[in-house]
Amino acid sequence: MDNNDLRPLEASDLPQLAQLEACCFTPPWSDAQLLSYLRGKRYLCYGLWQDEQLNGFALLTTVLDEAELLQIGIRPEARGQGLAGELLSFVHEQLENCGISRNLLEVRRSNEAARKLYARLGYKEDGVRKNYYPAETGYEDAILMSCNNLLLL
Ligand SMILES: CC(C)(COP(=O)(O)OP(=O)(O)OC[C@H]1O[C@@H](n2cnc3c(N)ncnc32)[C@H](O)[C@@H]1OP(=O)(O)O)[C@@H](O)C(=O)NCCC(=O)NCCS
Repeated sequence: MDNNDLRPLEASDLPQLAQLEACCFTPPWSDAQLLSYLRGKRYLCYGLWQDEQLNGFALLTTVLDEAELLQIGIRPEARGQGLAGELLSFVHEQLENCGISRNLLEVRRSNEAARKLYARLGYKEDGVRKNYYPAETGYEDAILMSCNNLLLL
């Protein structure tokens, strides 16, 4: 893990971000949408680089002392090595440095890897939005989670 470089993403990182977004989410967000996050004052965008390749990213929106994790993704070939945990811990440190003490998120009920990740990082379940996400057949629930102790681990 020593070669991992964690840092804020900039507008010039758009090509790598868009390529990684397309590996992680279907349908992916458009370049214009991603650029609006990279440039927007209310958004925080972080990347995890390995040997100059962007292998992880996290996008958040902020309001006062609260943040919401909009997306976190790790390149498929790099999954299962704890990189998302490393990235999210870094995000927590950055939030604390910005005076943000609480992070919220929503996750598909079926997304076991993400739910394990969030539980390990101290997120608690706050509720459920029934049938919130379109699924392959029908819809599936969103689990609402929050972490109020960002430097717990
Ligand atoms: C969710 C995601 C970010 C996790 O990245 P990662 O680097 O592989 O995560 P980690 O290696 O830190 O593992 C996280 C946990 O998931 C578990 N896990 C990994 N792959 C799994 C799988 N296919 N099924 C179930 N659990 C899995 C790991 O064992 C680990 O559990 P632990 O914390 O209890 O040890 C990654 O799978 C991903 O990018 N998915 C697509 C995008 C996505 O769904 N993002 C989240 C919603 S915004």
